Amino acid sequence: MNQADESILAILADGNGFVSGEDICVRLDMSRAAVWKHVKALRAMGYGIDSSPGRGYRLLTAPDTPFPCEVRKFLTTECLGRRVEYSAEVDSTNLQMGVRARSGAEEGMLLVADSQTSGRGRLARKWYSPPGVNLYFSLLLRPGASPADVPQLALVAGLALCQAVEHCCPGILTAIKWPNDVFVNGRKLSGILCDMQAEADLVHHVVIGVGVNVNAAPDSFPAELTRKATSLFAETGRHIRRARLMAAFLNEFEPLYGTWLTSGLATHLSALEARSFQLGTQVTVATGRGRIVGKAVGIGPGGGLLLDCGQGSVREIVCGDVLTN
Ligand code: BTN
Repeated sequence: MNQADESILAILADGNGFVSGEDICVRLDMSRAAVWKHVKALRAMGYGIDSSPGRGYRLLTAPDTPFPCEVRKFLTTECLGRRVEYSAEVDSTNLQMGVRARSGAEEGMLLVADSQTSGRGRLARKWYSPPGVNLYFSLLLRPGASPADVPQLALVAGLALCQAVEHCCPGILTAIKWPNDVFVNGRKLSGILCDMQAEADLVHHVVIGVGVNVNAAPDSFPAELTRKATSLFAETGRHIRRARLMAAFLNEFEPLYGTWLTSGLATHLSALEARSFQLGTQVTVATGRGRIVGKAVGIGPGGGLLLDCGQGSVREIVCGDVLTN
């Protein structure tokens, strides 16, 4: 969507009913033919625009696509998401954001795609990314923090996502599966992938990549995911506007990120523990050095999972994957 498309949309959205073609031409210094060309382009993007000879144009409906102008309608942040780039299809929003970050893009930039051809998950897994239904986005951060603390941002993002989902779908109960998944009713709703470029003690940039199953139909998941994954539509039977959820995430994340920058993870620990659904249960964690079995008893000050391994030994696992018992 280009600037002229956005300007025409803004005029139509402000107008109460029909806006004359003449009025749009004057306000945008554009010919009638050019206005008509943009209206056709907007219709092709899914906007319902009525046209009537003598009366002009009227905006009837907006598509459920996270176009930047749709996200901005709901955005209350100061920095995060103030610059948004949308693509109908990318290989991976995290990969593309990495390219922009290395060319100097600023903190807060958001890249959102309607679909991904090579969506990436943790541990070299793939992220199922069909078009038209879900959210796939990457947010660029440049925190003045120690590289060792950066993985905590996945937990903070998970917390923000839980709050955003509960804001957009009142009544739904979300849970965090350490370290970076959001679950609803025991199934995975969202995954978070944090990529970082850093030196020993200097973070150049962090890319927070989030995939959320929003309006995917329950029977649309590939066979290997049907019993493991869920979507907001599958849980509530309601369609959620992706742009609204996108903005809600940024609105929730910005203050949590601000507190993390100034005070670290400590202020978020109780909220994280309250949402961690594994706490109190026996779990097996796959780590780089093998499997560890224990009772999950909390989130440590550094963001690791606290495991009670018996005989008074509580270990903090900083990196690993909790296997489903
Ligand atoms: C996981 O659960 O393993 C993490 C999944 C993260 C998927 C998101 S979708 C947007 C962003 N771009 C990617 O390629 N991956 C992340």
